[in-house]
Amino acid sequence: MNAITPNTPSLPAPVGLLAELTHRCPLRCPYCSNPLELDRRSGELDTATWQRVLTEAAGLGVLHVHLSGGEPTARSDIVEITQTCAKLGLYSNLITSGVGGALAKLDALYDAGLDHVQLSVQGVDAANAEKIGGLKNAQPQKFAFAERVTQLGLPLTLNSVIHRGNIHEVEGFIDLAVKLGAKRLEVAHTQYYGWAYVNRAALMPDKAQVDQSIRIVEAARERLKGQLVIDLVVPDYYAKYPKACAGGWGRKLMNVTPAGKVLPCHAAETIKHLEFWYVSDHSLADIWANSPAFTAYRGTDWMKEPCRSCDRREKDWGGCRCQALALAGDAAATDPACSLSPLHAKVRELATEEAAETPPDYVYRTIGSNVDRAAPPPLKEDAPL
Ligand code: SF4
Ligand code: FES
Repeated sequence: MNAITPNTPSLPAPVGLLAELTHRCPLRCPYCSNPLELDRRSGELDTATWQRVLTEAAGLGVLHVHLSGGEPTARSDIVEITQTCAKLGLYSNLITSGVGGALAKLDALYDAGLDHVQLSVQGVDAANAEKIGGLKNAQPQKFAFAERVTQLGLPLTLNSVIHRGNIHEVEGFIDLAVKLGAKRLEVAHTQYYGWAYVNRAALMPDKAQVDQSIRIVEAARERLKGQLVIDLVVPDYYAKYPKACAGGWGRKLMNVTPAGKVLPCHAAETIKHLEFWYVSDHSLADIWANSPAFTAYRGTDWMKEPCRSCDRREKDWGGCRCQALALAGDAAATDPACSLSPLHAKVRELATEEAAETPPDYVYRTIGSNVDRAAPPPLKEDAPL
């Protein structure tokens, strides 16, 4: 374990850095976890600053760098940035949509030392996938991209975000992963942050559909042992206990936005009272140890009941702070995804009601518009839905 500063000798180093290189993206997925107010190209960090940030990350003890966005290959310097990761001994994972200029840059990324590719697939049926992603002709581009990834011998993970618009395709996603030669498939039920929170009613599946998707995954895990690993992220609103979001606040991850703001998780900016530090003003080590945003919910001292006295408090770290704020109106509350939260029954009821209604149209992710659209308000224990 690396000591960060003399003042914080017991603070372990972060394992991963999520480098959101740009918010630009050819796709417009309505479940995107990026903030509603997306960073513009003019505000993005330059190459030298990213290289300095990566150098600091390696010095701090970071092992994995997720080159993400938006679409990271939209950056003209993506190859140089990947090369820097390789030189520093950082394991690089490209999180990509596989469309736009991604295929044209893939061989150069491989030559630069890229370690892993995570490709998003919005659906199995092309028309459905392209409706969800908001981009025509995306599916053949993704398949061509996947083919080249495996030809190069790069490990491929497919990422499918599951919601009511594609939950009937879970079996198909598994077949697709096998067909494309992926080593891993993420069946990730939508987490309701950012654009997904605004689109919650359009995305929420019902409990029977969720249960069926879990059964399909469990059967496929048995059937495909040794061939395909399937990661399952279950939907919070139907869960018994929450996930340890981001591995616990300020414990494992740092997220650097395109403009260089450093967050403990991708949705942390929704917690308006937090003070975030920028890579332009502070080193990563200083931010990790001392940034008010990172220290705010690290550990367990900030917890209220029922988390404070719960024996799971160092397992899930109270769940997700951003979800607690969105649903309970208090970032220090127990995540209402937890069955011990006083709001849990309301959350279930809400999910059931939204899933039963005709889905509204998607609000597609767009830079510079829709940002004023009201997100659903927090729940109140004693108020009707
Ligand atoms: Fe986790 Fe808090 Fe729920 Fe306990 S009460 S399971 S610590 S979220
Ligand atoms: Fe912020 Fe979960 S997304 S703590």
